[in-house]
Amino acid sequence: MDLSKATERVKSLKSELNKHNKLYYVDANPIISDRKYDKLFDELKDLEKSYPQLASKISPTQRVGGEPIDGFTTIEHNKPMLSLQNTYSREEVADFDRKCRESLDTDNIQYLVELKFDGVAISLHYKNGFLEKALTRGDGFKGDNIISNAKRIMQIPLEIESPRPKYDEFEVRGEVYMLNSDFIKLNSKRESDGLQTYMNPRNTTAGTLKLLDPSEVSKRKLKLTCYYFDTINSKLNSQLENNNILKEMGFPVSNNIKLCNNIDDIFEFINTWDTKRKELPFEIDGVVIKVNSIKQQQDLGQIARSPKWAIAYKFETETVETKLLDISLQVGRQGTVTPVAELEPVILSGTTVRRASLYNEDYINELDIRIGDYVWVEKGGEIIPKITKVNLDKRAENLETFNFPSEIDGAKILRKENEAHYYIQDGDISTIQIKKAIEHFASRNAMNIDTLGEKVVSKLVDENIILNIADIYTLYNHTDTILKWDGWGEKSVKKLIDAIELSKAQTFDKVIYGLGIRYIGEGASKVLANNFQNIDSIINSDIETLKSINEIGDKMAESIHAFFQSNSNIELINKLKLFELKLFSDNKIIQTRNELEGKTFVFTGELSEMNRKDAAKMVIELGGKETKTVSKKTSYVVVGEKPGSKFQKAKDLDLNILSESEFIKLIESFK
Ligand code: IVH
Repeated sequence: MDLSKATERVKSLKSELNKHNKLYYVDANPIISDRKYDKLFDELKDLEKSYPQLASKISPTQRVGGEPIDGFTTIEHNKPMLSLQNTYSREEVADFDRKCRESLDTDNIQYLVELKFDGVAISLHYKNGFLEKALTRGDGFKGDNIISNAKRIMQIPLEIESPRPKYDEFEVRGEVYMLNSDFIKLNSKRESDGLQTYMNPRNTTAGTLKLLDPSEVSKRKLKLTCYYFDTINSKLNSQLENNNILKEMGFPVSNNIKLCNNIDDIFEFINTWDTKRKELPFEIDGVVIKVNSIKQQQDLGQIARSPKWAIAYKFETETVETKLLDISLQVGRQGTVTPVAELEPVILSGTTVRRASLYNEDYINELDIRIGDYVWVEKGGEIIPKITKVNLDKRAENLETFNFPSEIDGAKILRKENEAHYYIQDGDISTIQIKKAIEHFASRNAMNIDTLGEKVVSKLVDENIILNIADIYTLYNHTDTILKWDGWGEKSVKKLIDAIELSKAQTFDKVIYGLGIRYIGEGASKVLANNFQNIDSIINSDIETLKSINEIGDKMAESIHAFFQSNSNIELINKLKLFELKLFSDNKIIQTRNELEGKTFVFTGELSEMNRKDAAKMVIELGGKETKTVSKKTSYVVVGEKPGSKFQKAKDLDLNILSESEFIKLIESFK
């Protein structure tokens, strides 16, 4: 393809991809399959690779992959990002309306009422149709340019095609937020990987926008809603009209807005959403009431740092008072100790609350929470209820401050420097932890022993039948005992023993994952299985060797090393070997990523930097395939020294031919 043709094609591919992106992420109405989308995407990626002069920072291909960045630059806002006057009182909303009328000397005011999204403000700047800057609010006057992360928010358009000629330059402001369901998923994944969980969707969103690794941002699935449009190119009439312009240009805007002619209309909207907000898949903390006419907004002006033409009515976060009966300590599989409030049951937002999160020791100390106190429990942006205050007026005399014990179930607990949590001391183990470890080992994504659930494990451990994961494989010696349990018969016992037997076929990566090494989730387990022949070579690796593996970070490497330093863990592994679990690789490379999905590679000639097997392994890990024969369908032919006839065939078929160094570059571009 010549350059001018390629230029045309790149332009049309970008436009297609941007269109489908919007249909998928903004309109939730895709019209082509993911496969088709990927095909277009790959074509654009390939063209940009072949014609680097056609690549741009604002291409749809820039939404994936990419290098971590060093930091953000701070940039001044065109107009300060103001805050809103907040109120919890309806009288003050009525006052606001009265003041607007008085000040404008008219009764002819319309208000646009919107939901107040509980997220993080962002300001997006477009120039000649392209996203140019994405600023955080910062101190209101200057913010950080987080454009590399903004590109990973799929609802943020990179390029605007439609009414573009009208506006050379414009700014859009909105709120970045996270769906409750995505927040919960993220936290449960973190929990199973032994990482600390996050407090609420808003804080997590704020933290995500400041991450230095854009590819991590992609995983968080952040959302956007826009509520502000400003341009120097055109006179703007009203808030509602701005909303429509935004919608037309492809920005996500909330449909839950209402044009109100009087205060009663406003109250009706407030009442509706005070109830209906519980059904929303994300958090809102109130409604925003804005004078609709831009002219009237300008006439009203601003005081200090808030406009006089808008006010936020915040919903009362529902709070109830109840007695703190006890503080229990939950032990996670990795030995993390989390304090949980055991409450006198109380109804909050329609559900009975018996427990609330206490996060960690500092939280308990800061609020001076003591067992026996009357506490305020709130369900706000947190989803999980939390304690926000102690009612000191009701505090009984002689309530003692809460101190973490030095041990739980005979296992010592410790809080290390710079850690918020207590952990079970390495080497010590508590019954709860034993149960969690066994449950994890048996879980679906590890050994997949589906009959060995929480209840069964708990009973087996309580009756001293199994004390570690290896004991699972001796269960057949205890069938007589289990048969005596309530509700158990020959059939169910056989099912349990069969499932255990079957689990021995689980692959190396599943066994590694099942071991429950801190920070080693499913992905890292696959990476380890691909890089080591067997468990002994992992055990014998030093930290540096582990770190040298791509995708194994410092923390992971240290954790793996520490795990195998423990004699009891080594003993466990030796037992598992006796039971013939797959503690070795079956030499099938496991796909850990999908950047090369659908691509086939043929190697011909001698490679100098690596052997053929390693090259193929890299391809397979990234989701591609190695084949032996060249055909029209071959995506790449990698040519080394003294290539064979495959090279000629590749030239005849006009295929993509890569030298060894180009191949390495291609693979590295995904790292
Ligand atoms: S308008 C000058 N509309 O709330 C007013 N803000 O407390 C500009 N927010 O900084 C903001 N939803 O981050 C507006 N529908 C909405 C909003 C909204 C959430 C946030 C925004 C703003 C903060 C003010």
